[in-house]
Amino acid sequence: MVLDIVILAAGQGTRMVSDLPKVLHPLAGRPLLGHVIDSARTLAPRSLNVVIGHGATQVRSALPDAPVAWVLQQQQLGTGHAVQQVLPLLARDGTTLILYGDVPLVRESTLRELVAVANRGTLALLTVELGDPSGYGRILRDAEGRVAAIVEHKDASAEQRAVREVNTGIMALPNARLHEWLPTLGNRNAQGEYYLTDIIAMAAGTGVGVQPLPAADEQEVAGVNNREQLAVLERAWQARKARELLLAGVTLRDPARFDLRGHLRHGRDVTIDVNVIVEGEVELGDRVTIGANCVLRNTRIGAGATVHPNSLLEHADVGPGCSVGPFARLRPGTRMAEGARIGNFVETKQATIGAHSKINHLSYVGDAELGEHVNVGAGTITCNYDGVNKHRTTIGDGAFIGSNTSLVAPVEVGRDATVGAGSVVTSAVPDDALAIARGRQRNISGWQRPRKTSGR
Ligand code: UD1
Ligand code: CA
Repeated sequence: MVLDIVILAAGQGTRMVSDLPKVLHPLAGRPLLGHVIDSARTLAPRSLNVVIGHGATQVRSALPDAPVAWVLQQQQLGTGHAVQQVLPLLARDGTTLILYGDVPLVRESTLRELVAVANRGTLALLTVELGDPSGYGRILRDAEGRVAAIVEHKDASAEQRAVREVNTGIMALPNARLHEWLPTLGNRNAQGEYYLTDIIAMAAGTGVGVQPLPAADEQEVAGVNNREQLAVLERAWQARKARELLLAGVTLRDPARFDLRGHLRHGRDVTIDVNVIVEGEVELGDRVTIGANCVLRNTRIGAGATVHPNSLLEHADVGPGCSVGPFARLRPGTRMAEGARIGNFVETKQATIGAHSKINHLSYVGDAELGEHVNVGAGTITCNYDGVNKHRTTIGDGAFIGSNTSLVAPVEVGRDATVGAGSVVTSAVPDDALAIARGRQRNISGWQRPRKTSGR
């Protein structure tokens, strides 16, 4: 049976107290709506329609590559009205699944169950029992215990409000029935809205029937209305991901102090210490160790490499057996070959560092290419920027750069060349040569410092 999906995302989200539309607030670094679209796509639907209204332009441009049909709901006249906007795009055959753009953790297995039920011609309704059901639509059952209707909180009697079984909003039903029922919705209710939930009574009153399916847990159907709820769902999502990683063989020193905002591919026996943030696409080889408080963004780290605490790596490629940090900053385009070392308070950018080369302390190396077994002394700076252009520094295999050297690019240091400490290198250093480019030391004996006329 073919599947169409409708995601409702036109609502305002006033309680976020934000200029950003609610569905664009990030969970694990991705907009809420992005999570819902991802889940929807796993079902391989024939069509994926997203109803937008509040902040529609912003929502569309935040997810430019989403393979969805954007459907504008000019005025937010209710959930039923929202689905009515999609009706002209829906074929008469098949099944439609309705999701909310602000309910990000719904499980693929749950959605598949709903769709399977609806494929048999029934309306499948995802429900949940809540300790505090206030605000939700209550499930009303008939004398035989069959679902008969949904009454919205604002329309419910005191007796109905005591019902704790509620509508999650997520449902699936045959397209033919949507085409039949949606045009008949009215808005004579407490909120003057076209309620999608009125179709429950219609289904119950015909042979179609309603099959309620209880959600696996409260989190998977929890919506985001304010930032507190968003924070709670963020932790729930992170706990899910941490558990998956632990069971896949990654050591997380504390699963509650690990954040994944993207995808992590990993080898065997990877160890991650506390407060590590992984963003974008990150790959860690076998036996990689990440120290506390590191941020890894779109970075690849080879087998056996160690990143020591408090390091920030962005778009970097760290070879096997390398050592990085503590307190290192690897900016985009840093490529370290096998066994290279970058130590504390070192910043690199667009830099290729050959195998077993070392930049161990207090340096800036940018727009540079270093050969193998190069030793860069403490405080070395590549002066790559003249205020307008960036220039390159090239250092040959086996070169030794003395501490506190300024390499004024464009400049080349040859193979096995040596640069004396404190040099300002402005022209090429030949292979095997020693370059010393600093003021020569002069000693003036018996030097008298100026004296103050009074006191010391
Ligand atoms: C809705 C359900 C309620 C259910 C609750 C679960 C109805 C009438 N009520 O209530 O039974 O318990 O969700 O959270 O369906 N939206 C639009 N356009 C609109 C109105 C809403 O796109 O005109 C979208 C919102 O962005 C949101 C979703 O639909 O993603 C639900 O809207 P919301 O206003 O939160 O519905 P509730 O009143 O909470
Ligand atoms: Ca809601």
